[in-house]
Amino acid sequence: MINVSLTPMLEALKTNAKQWRHEKLLNWRYGLVEKHIAPGYRVLDQGAGTGWVGWRLHQRKGCRVRLVDVLDRNETELAHEVYDGRRLPYADGSFDVTLLIFVLHHARNQEEILSEAARVSSVKIVVVEDTPRNRFERAVNTCCDTFGNLKPGFLNPHNYRKIDEWRRIFAAMGLDVIHQEVVRPFFPYIYAKTVFVLSP
Ligand SMILES: C[S@@+](CC[C@H](N)C(=O)[O-])C[C@H]1O[C@@H](n2cnc3c(N)ncnc32)[C@H](O)[C@@H]1O
Repeated sequence: MINVSLTPMLEALKTNAKQWRHEKLLNWRYGLVEKHIAPGYRVLDQGAGTGWVGWRLHQRKGCRVRLVDVLDRNETELAHEVYDGRRLPYADGSFDVTLLIFVLHHARNQEEILSEAARVSSVKIVVVEDTPRNRFERAVNTCCDTFGNLKPGFLNPHNYRKIDEWRRIFAAMGLDVIHQEVVRPFFPYIYAKTVFVLSP
């Protein structure tokens, strides 16, 4: 009788599924920001997480990318700094663009983070945020965000805002909204996320 072990096959399937999910999520996140980034830009990815969006900008657009976060989860070869979540360790205008992709709702000092992004950026800031429009969307969003971020271990105060609340904050800080786009996550499709491009 042939003794066939299923374990290696199951392991391979698990790895493929993980890679497929990683690639799908990365394509989606990269697609939200890439059209706002010119080739060769100096990019700061603030709250970079694993760093893959920055890595892709570096690979595909020749951007000079630095990563900064309150934790070191960098999985790429890009330069990465850990900072205190308040003052960025860079001089004024060191970058053309700063990315804040799904970062602000993880923080309580949102204005301070934005003001630091504005200080170090000379051309624009790209913010991507969950912007639930009502209690139901907020509940779904909270649920997805909780389960989606179980492993990484960073703060998750679910500090979401509606689009007009963000716009009031940007206006009060003197940040002009030069582009705004509402998008749907590929799953579960029912709540809104928004890309804001700001001029510092
Ligand atoms: C949901 S992850 C997003 C990671 C990455 N931007 C992406 O889209 O793949 C949120 C990240 O924000 C970071 N973060 C939380 N507070 C921060 C702060 N004050 N400054 C910078 N990053 C912060 C967390 O450590 C975490 O890596």
